[in-house]
Amino acid sequence: MAKNRAFARLSPSSQLYGMHDSDALATFGYVVRALDAQGIGYLHLTEPNAKALESGQIQIEHVAQTFRPMTSVPMIVNGGFDKAKANAALAAGEADLVAFGVPFIANPDLVERYRQDAALNKPDPATFYGEGPGGYTDYPALSEYSAAPASATN
Ligand SMILES: Cc1cc2nc3c(=O)[nH]c(=O)nc-3n(C[C@H](O)[C@H](O)[C@H](O)COP(=O)(O)O)c2cc1C
Repeated sequence: MAKNRAFARLSPSSQLYGMHDSDALATFGYVVRALDAQGIGYLHLTEPNAKALESGQIQIEHVAQTFRPMTSVPMIVNGGFDKAKANAALAAGEADLVAFGVPFIANPDLVERYRQDAALNKPDPATFYGEGPGGYTDYPALSEYSAAPASATN
């Protein structure tokens, strides 16, 4: 049988851009089960970000924990993870894989930095969603400096 090459990414918690549902658990639960029945390659779920949690503008707080029991397809989770939190989520069986967004934008060699427990470049949100390469291709890799730059953080 041909491998299923369809995948899905859902943000069940977000109310970004006016997205909301009167019963998010029922709606997204239906979708997750339907995708599971199709045998998709993986399901990628985003957790609510810190800003949403602070404001209380969330539909579902623990996304991976909520939907994991509804599907047996490989699950990727993301949103606000660092190395320690990701390892804890994997150890708890909440997901099969953790994805990183902003940490990868600011650290082209994020995997190597995590491997070495090296300092991370600090992301600059002012350059997010820009139209040029600034903030996307100019963060230094570990190999580009010997001493940690002033902006580096853990
Ligand atoms: C500059 C920027 C661009 C993004 N573009 C997309 C996008 O095109 N599609 C998408 O699904 N998510 C997009 N995201 C969301 C990220 O994939 C991710 O879900 C979010 O940053 C939370 O994960 P993190 O805490 O690891 O960054 C974007 C995020 C940032 C900061």
